[in-house]
Formats: sequence, C-alpha cells, structure tokens
Amino acid sequence: MARIIGGFFTSHVPAIGNAIAKKQQNEPYWKPFFDAFPPVREWIGKEKPDVVVFFYNDHGLNFFLDKMPIFAVGAASDYVSEDEGWGIPTTSAFKGDPKLSWHIINGIVADGFDPVMCQEMTVDHAITNPMLLMYPDSNWPVRIVPIAINSIQHPLPGPKRCYDLGRAVGRAIESYGENLRVLVLGSGGLSHQLDGERAGFINKAFDQECMDAIAGDVSALNKYSALDVVEKAGAQGVELMCWIAARAAMQGRVRELRRSYHIPISNTASAVMLLSNEPVEAAKAA
Ligand code: DHB
Ligand code: FE
Repeated sequence: MARIIGGFFTSHVPAIGNAIAKKQQNEPYWKPFFDAFPPVREWIGKEKPDVVVFFYNDHGLNFFLDKMPIFAVGAASDYVSEDEGWGIPTTSAFKGDPKLSWHIINGIVADGFDPVMCQEMTVDHAITNPMLLMYPDSNWPVRIVPIAINSIQHPLPGPKRCYDLGRAVGRAIESYGENLRVLVLGSGGLSHQLDGERAGFINKAFDQECMDAIAGDVSALNKYSALDVVEKAGAQGVELMCWIAARAAMQGRVRELRRSYHIPISNTASAVMLLSNEPVEAAKAA
C-alpha cells in the first residue's frame, strides 16, 4: 500500500529560484532562509519518497480569471516548468504519475469533490522552487501529482473545505495498492500581500498560530473563513490553504522535525516546516 511518510511545507517566493540560479544562498539576505534546507534535504535523502503530492496554487499559468477551478488535479505524465515571467530559469520537466493521479481523482470524487482533471498541465514557481529546494541539482528522483487550489479569484475555498480536501486526498493515497512512499507538500504562504493599500502586509502572530496548528491540530484553523484568512494573512497569504490541505492529508502519528520562520523574503513571511507521519498502528506497536 502507498504510505504518506511526511509533509514538507515551504514558501515559494519566485526570487528563491533566481537566488539559487545566482548562487546567492550564503549572502546575508538569503542565508537565514536557505539555512533551513540542509536538514530537510538530509531527511528527504534518507526517507527517499517515490512521489510528491503537491498542494499548490497556480498563479495564472493554467487558469486565469476567465476560467478558474476551485480545485484541479494534474493527471499528466510530464509537467513542463513555464513560470509566468519572474525570470526564473526553466528546469527540466517533472515526471507525473498518471495512475496515482487518477486514483486520487476517483477517490476525491467519490468523497464529494468536483475537481478539474488536467491531462495537460504546466507548472510555475509554486512547484519548481520547492523542487529546487529539495533537489538543488535539478535531478528529480520523484514523480509528482500537482493539486491546485484557487487562491486568486473569489470565491476562494476556505480552511474547512481545504482541510476536507486534504483528508480525502490522504484517504485516497493510503488506499492505493502500490507500495509507494509519498511526501505531501504544502507550497506557498505564509502571510503576504503583493498589491493594494496593504502591500507588504505581514502578520507574524497569525503565522505562528498557523505553524502551531500545522504541527498539532490543523482543524483549529477551520474556524476561519477564507475572508478571515485574507484579513489576517494578506490577499496572497491565502496560500495557507495549501498548507492546511497538505497537513490534513497526514492521518497518522505526526511529529514536527523542523520549523523555520524568517521575515521577509521579498514581500513574504517565509516559513518552512518538515513533519514526519508514522502509521498509527506502527506508532502503537512501538
Ligand atoms: C511573491 C510571493 C508569492 O507567493 C508569489 O507567488 C509571487 C511573489 C513575493 O513575495 O515576491
Ligand atoms: Fe505565490
């Protein structure tokens, strides 16, 4: 059976890709951010996931204001990186796992979700930057399943809906017959607002509350509406929904392995978390 071995959560600010390309990881501006990653890479190198199931938000590449699914699941065999103009070097394509994608789609539809099914999908900095942070040599040893959550066009799905989506995806993964080690990934956040009167808005207290909930009981965030999150985390801080869904997919005994928080990277409160997920039965036996 497939097993969710852990969750990795990271901001995906486009400038990260440029900093990697220019080898600026040790410059004073970037060092506090990049210092979070060697232990994450060490854990990933040891745990060797086969597939990364990404909860992320598309920034106008596949979907725009004219047609915006609330949730969309990739079922392609390749995902080409085509960022939407931040000047990030493009990477080699990511391999998909269409069979697992269709299993997840079937599972969540049976659970009452109506995702858009994407047999062709390109990906932006919300996928390429976390992949580069895990695998800086751009050799991708994993396949990916991207699950896009609308964070652009209102109405936005709120914490409870994204929590339920994550639970349904988690159930689907854990019921997959192949022996796969799956890492779930929440891409984006934490608090940030890129435009309007509150451009540059960051809310450290709310970010801490969210990270504590991600480490512990993520359903504690379900009391907030999508608009509460806009108010508390900023208009783009709603990328938090990707973290909520990824965390909700983890249904075993969860342990916090790493946490890092640094203000700001570009306009964003940058945050990184790594959690392990042990099957409840194994945890009981130990
Ligand atoms: C920034 C953050 C994002 O999440 C994004 O998608 C684009 C830009 C930023 O802080 O620059
Ligand atoms: Fe973003």
